[in-house]
Amino acid sequence: MLKQLENSKNLYIETYGCQMNFSDSEIVVSVLKDEYIVVEQPQNADLILINTCSIRENAEQRVLKRLSELNTLKKKNPQLRIGMIGCMAERMKDDLFKTGKVDLVVGPDAYRDFPAILNETSDFPINVLLSEIETYDDIEPVRYDTNGISAFISIMRGCNNFCAYCVVPYTRGRERSRNPETILAEAEKLFADGYREITFLGQNVNSFHYDGVNFANLMEAASKINPLLRIRFATSHPKDLSDELLAVMARYNNICKSIHLPAQSGSDKILQLMNRKYTRAGYLNRIAHIRKYMPDCAISTDLIAGFSTETEDDHAETLSLMQTVEFDYAFMFKYSLREGTAAWKNMTDDVPESVKTQRLEEIIALQQELSHRSNKADVGKQFEVLIEGTSKRSPAHFYGRNSQNKVVVFPKGDRKIGEYVTIQIKKCTSATLMGEVVNS
Ligand code: SAH
Ligand code: SF4
Ligand code: F3S
Repeated sequence: MLKQLENSKNLYIETYGCQMNFSDSEIVVSVLKDEYIVVEQPQNADLILINTCSIRENAEQRVLKRLSELNTLKKKNPQLRIGMIGCMAERMKDDLFKTGKVDLVVGPDAYRDFPAILNETSDFPINVLLSEIETYDDIEPVRYDTNGISAFISIMRGCNNFCAYCVVPYTRGRERSRNPETILAEAEKLFADGYREITFLGQNVNSFHYDGVNFANLMEAASKINPLLRIRFATSHPKDLSDELLAVMARYNNICKSIHLPAQSGSDKILQLMNRKYTRAGYLNRIAHIRKYMPDCAISTDLIAGFSTETEDDHAETLSLMQTVEFDYAFMFKYSLREGTAAWKNMTDDVPESVKTQRLEEIIALQQELSHRSNKADVGKQFEVLIEGTSKRSPAHFYGRNSQNKVVVFPKGDRKIGEYVTIQIKKCTSATLMGEVVNS
């Protein structure tokens, strides 16, 4: 928690969506830190900010519902201001004022402008300008909600890929990378402050490039900061996952052996309509290369059920891709049509809702089985685990993750948060590994 400042006002911030949004909230808190301290409850806030996500229709519906709830606090506290920030702010712009429940709107590239927006006298303060250069590289994030062990570092922003279904290129603007010197300085400071794991973030981290430095170079430099500092990254686009990166990952023990590689579909026809820029064979080729460089690397994915024109055969191809790769875990979604995207302009959302639901259920059931199989294969093995905190289910147990990003739960003994321990896995569920500390 932040120290109390004299005359400071209270800021309550609620974040939805991807890790980039969580990382952005830390930037916003940093920009406002001279005037506001973060509070944990909205009841006594002077300013409430909702950092929003537009990726699917239901993500937006959820936030609009929450916005109504939070507005009831104005009855007791008429001075309260509620701001919408993030991707919905960018997508809906001043339409948000029409709800009558929003006092200010700030898009993802305009957070630097926050103090000015808060002092504006206009009835509808708004800044949703997108930038081709903003990376907030000189702003030190305020990690207001942290376990003190793992932290996110944004290394690039925006997306140029324009997958046909996706709103991100419109809400986040063009791709741009942050100066690697500032990234490495931030990582070094985090390590000095006791952090033991950093995750590099970007919509497509492996298209990072800055003055001749590519993502593999950045990863290598970061891994050399200290062998006790673990490095992770998310998310990779299959078209940019280079062998150079795989070789660097294989070479350094502290680069975690886990790759999130969204496939979206197993059907070539659908992949082409989605504008994913790879085929099923191309995707499987990347998987083969990952396994060649790192046989113990976990592979996870994102899948969409019911994209435009998806037939039962296309769906069966997705299921068979899952079987072939044996993903360790997956995020799985029903296709949601987003205004302004290429699919919205040129295709029809023609798979009935009930069919989308049925296909999603099949995908989830299969993944459950694959995740369980993957975890069962780990029973009996030993893993190095970084201790992150006390298990939510049991005060006598710690939880942490292994290099493969699997959650491992074990009795605390005399170990401490932030330490590395070797754990012998004794049993598992489809979501968690359970084990005991190996005494060395
Ligand atoms: N940049 C990342 C993904 C960001 S969005 C990447 O390309 O890998 C996270 C996931 O949301 C996507 O991978 C996709 O599976 C899902 N998604 C995006 N748009 C969607 C939509 N319109 N409907 C359903 N799922 C969607
Ligand atoms: Fe969206 Fe595709 Fe960009 Fe990912 S790569 S953010 S899915 S447009
Ligand atoms: Fe959502 Fe925006 Fe992230 S749409 S997934 S919060 S980039």
